[in-house]
Amino acid sequence: MTLKELTDHTVREFVKKYGRQPRWIVAAPGRVNIIGEHTDYNDGFVLPMAIELYTVIAADSSTQETNQIRLYSTLGDKPAVVDLTKPLKPLPKGSWANYPVGVIAAFLARGLNPGGFDAMIHSTVPFGGGLSSSAALEVATATLLEVITGKKLDLVEKALLCQKAEHEYAGMPCGIMDQFISIMGRENQVLLLDCRSRKPELVPMSDPSVTVLIINTNVRHQLTGSEYPMRRKQCEAAAKILGVPSLRDATTELLEHAKGRMEKDVYHRARHVIGEIERTQHAADDIRASNWPAVGQLMYASHRSLRNDYEVSCKALDTVVDIAKVIGLKGGMFGCRMTGAGFGGCAVALVKTDAIDAISKKIAADYKKKTGIEATIFISRPAAGATVIKNNGSGSPSVRTNICARVSVPA
Ligand code: GLA
Repeated sequence: MTLKELTDHTVREFVKKYGRQPRWIVAAPGRVNIIGEHTDYNDGFVLPMAIELYTVIAADSSTQETNQIRLYSTLGDKPAVVDLTKPLKPLPKGSWANYPVGVIAAFLARGLNPGGFDAMIHSTVPFGGGLSSSAALEVATATLLEVITGKKLDLVEKALLCQKAEHEYAGMPCGIMDQFISIMGRENQVLLLDCRSRKPELVPMSDPSVTVLIINTNVRHQLTGSEYPMRRKQCEAAAKILGVPSLRDATTELLEHAKGRMEKDVYHRARHVIGEIERTQHAADDIRASNWPAVGQLMYASHRSLRNDYEVSCKALDTVVDIAKVIGLKGGMFGCRMTGAGFGGCAVALVKTDAIDAISKKIAADYKKKTGIEATIFISRPAAGATVIKNNGSGSPSVRTNICARVSVPA
């Protein structure tokens, strides 16, 4: 589905539900991370790109209840109703509406009250697929609220606001990669982000002879579990033993020196992070030089490290990477690795454009044979970050400072 088709679909659903045309339409993309996994919360480097899968929100100011926000999703989830006259708090864990509601709460906390509005949300970013469906939803909501309140946030502030919403409302202590790329993505460019200085650097990736292939294992990951927070804690423990502010400041030599003073797991987690930060910077250089075989080798090394040292891969992801290795450079495969937090979700591969069809067929067939699961395989060019598609506002409603709001999900 193209962004245009997705937008048309969302508008149709909005009209069906609310009986009028939306005044505002916004979109925010998902992402795939080429390399730099579990490095963002260690002040390291990441190298993601926005993809051509989006969350779209169509909205209009409320016709009746000026203090009520109605959030409907075309995916059939329960709608959420936010009452802006009552204090706002998180919904039960696992509720999809925690992402938009967390963002609304953050705007209210800044004195930016959008007033009542009706919204329809639709997304092509698969939920739990490791392609940042949550960040796309948060960033789309923030973009909508910017339009409604007439207050455009600084890009970094906007990303941090969305990240905070995820921490506080969805209970997921994520890093900053996903929100940054969903906001700052550019067509035909990947983003080398220094997560310490938060300095984004765009790296062109427009060589038509290579394509990014995304393989959804269709094994859903579960991120609010204990694994992700535990990895974060282990990294902090390693940094403490090494006497550095974060693993960004550590080196392999320093780590090897301290090996005897660390629990085995903590040592392995740190070894992944230190190596991955280095690999990510090399990969950016290799992309700039269009050295695709070198990028591919770094991707395989990243996967190995995530599987053995960080222990966030799973059988389905390893199977995809093993198939990629069999295809090899001769078959047009440069490299492949798991992408995102892990424990399921997607793998990302860098392939020769003229081999896409053969490679996709081979991966689909072999993966089905080995796991019994149907993979979903698609390509994406690096896409643009969040956009306002329609803003028919005849002047934004005044920015109010009511910070009380309550949210409920009708049964
Ligand atoms: C999730 C988090 C990110 C990042 C990745 C792993 O996507 O939201 O912040 O930590 O996992 O690289």
